Amino acid sequence: MEQKRIKIKDLLASAEAGSTVNVKGWVRTKRGNKQINFVALNDGSTIQNLQVVVDVPNFNEDLLKKITTGAAISVDGEIIESQGSGQSVEIAAKNIEVLGVADPEKYPLQPKKHSLEFLREKAHLRFRTNTFSAIFRIRHAMAYAVHEFFNKKGFYYMHTPLITGSDAEGAGEMFRVSTLDPKNPPLNEDGTINYKEDFFGKETNLTVSGQLEGELGAMALGEIYTFGPTFRAENSNTTRHLAEFWMIEPEMAFYDIVDNMDLAEEFLKYMIKYALDNCMEDLQFLSKRLQEEEKGLKAEDRQMELIEKLKFVLENDFVRLTYTEAIDILRNSKPNKKKKFQYLIEGWGADLQSEHERYLVEKKFKKPVILIDYPKDIKAFYMKQNDDGKTVAAMDILFPGIGEIVGGSQREEDLEKLTTRMKEMNVPAEEMDWYLDTRRFGSATHAGFGLGFERMMLFVTGMGNIRDVIPFPRTPKNAEF
Ligand code: 4AD
Ligand code: MG
Repeated sequence: MEQKRIKIKDLLASAEAGSTVNVKGWVRTKRGNKQINFVALNDGSTIQNLQVVVDVPNFNEDLLKKITTGAAISVDGEIIESQGSGQSVEIAAKNIEVLGVADPEKYPLQPKKHSLEFLREKAHLRFRTNTFSAIFRIRHAMAYAVHEFFNKKGFYYMHTPLITGSDAEGAGEMFRVSTLDPKNPPLNEDGTINYKEDFFGKETNLTVSGQLEGELGAMALGEIYTFGPTFRAENSNTTRHLAEFWMIEPEMAFYDIVDNMDLAEEFLKYMIKYALDNCMEDLQFLSKRLQEEEKGLKAEDRQMELIEKLKFVLENDFVRLTYTEAIDILRNSKPNKKKKFQYLIEGWGADLQSEHERYLVEKKFKKPVILIDYPKDIKAFYMKQNDDGKTVAAMDILFPGIGEIVGGSQREEDLEKLTTRMKEMNVPAEEMDWYLDTRRFGSATHAGFGLGFERMMLFVTGMGNIRDVIPFPRTPKNAEF
């Protein structure tokens, strides 16, 4: 009778010595001698490999030759108590079938250490390494935690459009969506392209944020969140920027900036706790990897151990301070006085660069920081204008090793103030009449924020490059796969 396959994770959790099982997976390594072979098998269900013990004389030589790193195999066998240390059980193979070979001459992921750069070029295969399988299992868990958190709180998951006619952030960094022939587009009399003839009859782009549509939902459903891909054509070739990234954007009616900060802090801590409660094996693996990588560094250049770092953020209140207070701290800071910052802080009004954000978080407070009340001129048009006439009720959350992880604000609810600000900032009010209707009819205090999912993934996994926490990164000059 054919055995039903059991996943390695379930087998390790409930294995009883003496029972027969079938497992399927990919060979990580094979070692041994003429009498006995040990095959480390992984099926993606856990970071743990299952050791398959092969009594060599009982098997066909040609079959065993095909069991090489990367090959897919199916094994029927008996669960036995493990002789060696590490695993509690292993499986004594009775029958092995090679499902798919992986020619050792050609298979790129031979069992040796590969650089992250090399693996980025082989992103289609990197899931098969311990590091990336751990990262993408955690990514799944984090996405699940997002939905669990908001569902428990009574928020509604809202799907906002990916193709849009508006530029939510007003930054003009959008990817055009068009079906016009670039070699021969229809022209207006003045020589400009006639988008009336384009697919949607107007200029359209990929969205940079679901916020504006999210606000429409919040002003009826009360509390909503979006979680989807967003696109930014900014030419930032850094370890923190992607051209296609996933964002979570909650939007809440009757919340002010303080309610907004409270929710964001609770949300970030929920995600971290979820990872600690559900992804410990993978986190431990990534922690070891990181310590290995940082071995050569001086003690002060090393990061806090990954799990310790996650617990630390979980157990401490985030620091909350105003932009104005932050500027004072930065202006009087050592790196500013000694001209160590690339961008020196000379006065109020300067936009904060990641070097400044990281100084506040890593050197000054050694904790996540929520900065509020930014100058209105460096923030988007929709933010609530404070009574001082200079600042808006913006909030950025800054994390160690990352810099900005969340950006949000209380929204301007006053129609008059909002339209005036739109004019000042050249935001085309005519095209956004639908948005202004929320302020015309039943306007109310509301607020929201956006969490960059991959930046959160960087923090939770301890990885240093955002290209390594999304399966297929899109960055300037790169859209492979
Ligand atoms: O600060 P941002 O631009 O805010 C918004 O888009 C608002 N509409 C959010 C809201 O209030 N609903 O982006 C929010 C977050 C950033 O804090 C950062 O974590 C992430 O999105 N982010 C990026 N992540 C990866 N690559 C990029 N190019 C990113 N740009 C922003
Ligand atoms: Mg921002």
